[in-house]
Amino acid sequence: MNLESEDKPLIDVQSGMIDRKIFSDENIFEQEMERVFDKSWLFVGHESLIPKNGDYFLSQAGREPVVVTRDDEGKVNVLLNLCTHRGMPVCRYDRGNAKRFTCPYHGWTFSNNGELTGLPLNKEGYEGKLDRSRWGMIKARVACYYGSIWATFNESAPSFEDSLGDMAFWLREFMMGPDGEDDGLEAVEGILKSEIPSNWKFGAENTAGDLYHDVSHNSVQRVGIALTGLRTRHVWNADKNTFRTLNVAFPAGGHAIRANLYDTPNREYFSQWSQIPEADEYFRNAHYARQKRLGEKERLLNRGGIVFPNFAYNSANRTSASVWVPRAAGRTEVWKWVFLPKNAPQVVKDTMRNYLLRYAGPAGMVEQDDFENWHSAQVGSESVAAERLPMNYQLHIGHAKWAWPEPWIGEGALVDEGVSEHAQRVFYDRWYEMMTGKPRVFRKEAAE
Ligand code: FES
Ligand SMILES: [Fe+2]
Repeated sequence: MNLESEDKPLIDVQSGMIDRKIFSDENIFEQEMERVFDKSWLFVGHESLIPKNGDYFLSQAGREPVVVTRDDEGKVNVLLNLCTHRGMPVCRYDRGNAKRFTCPYHGWTFSNNGELTGLPLNKEGYEGKLDRSRWGMIKARVACYYGSIWATFNESAPSFEDSLGDMAFWLREFMMGPDGEDDGLEAVEGILKSEIPSNWKFGAENTAGDLYHDVSHNSVQRVGIALTGLRTRHVWNADKNTFRTLNVAFPAGGHAIRANLYDTPNREYFSQWSQIPEADEYFRNAHYARQKRLGEKERLLNRGGIVFPNFAYNSANRTSASVWVPRAAGRTEVWKWVFLPKNAPQVVKDTMRNYLLRYAGPAGMVEQDDFENWHSAQVGSESVAAERLPMNYQLHIGHAKWAWPEPWIGEGALVDEGVSEHAQRVFYDRWYEMMTGKPRVFRKEAAE
């Protein structure tokens, strides 16, 4: 299927309708790999996993397998984990420390910054003439951003910060500790990996800001999974400080956050950890330290969001991120990264990690509901009989505003309030722009 030659557009964000083929068509999927993933900056990991020179771990930049290294000079590299001789994965271990990687097929050897250093039969077979500078591992452009590591293999993509736009501060804020200190997180060793029979965009659009799907998690609400002991996941229901619920989207890049915007600054600490005194104390102190550090911006509680296209994070009491690794139109790997505050006492780290495992991940309780939702939606996207109707994204359409009373949220932010499919509409607007080259609908200039 060719997106450009469609009689009717597959994406119509102005009326909130999206053709279900974008989730099931293999040609569209292949086009996404070139037009969306290859041109975007992608999350590949966290610097805390490679503290020493020579440390490395395996990751994914979209569909591309990569090895993330800290080389002998201390520099972070993201190398395509495919041998330049015949394409074998060169590094075979999830993580470790190595000066070099030797390909198990014919023995080409690469240093931990990707240079080709060892070439069997160099003299006899290649007469010493093979240009080693040309045949090193393929290197991505790398951006280290407050601990997080991002990469793109595209030479002409804009810089990482330009591609984030006004989302930059909110990603930086996610990477802070709960006390508002920059680069305050560490990644837990080991990534929780699941495979779901679903298109990657179902997970991505949900985490961009689907506040509508509460009914899915009813059973979990009833068992009282929240640390407050309340029979709801929505710890905020008990917060006495008043706030508005915002869907903040950044249309230029397709990013979005969901947030509480408190009516007044310097709000009281609201405990989500009342059952664990050490954690309660840590978070109380962190709350007031964050207020001091962030000034007026502390009024915004960044609950989670997405960096387009495939990095989705949750903050607040379950600091983690999901990376949607696209494998086929109907197949996605979910790589779940867990983060903890670096400076928290061990007992607090253990509590958070245990809570997160109970909440999310392959053995958790909440994400299973979502995996089933997305798997089932995939079935709907493959139905021929259902093709006569597009998918519906009309919830609270037409209410988003560019000018918000708090300009520090971001000049490039288009904001909607309450339960809305605004962030999804912005996500698909950006997706369509990247896939077709047609201009976005949500442009500030167009609105003025
Ligand atoms: S494929 Fe790696 S050395 Fe041949
Ligand atoms: Fe969910």
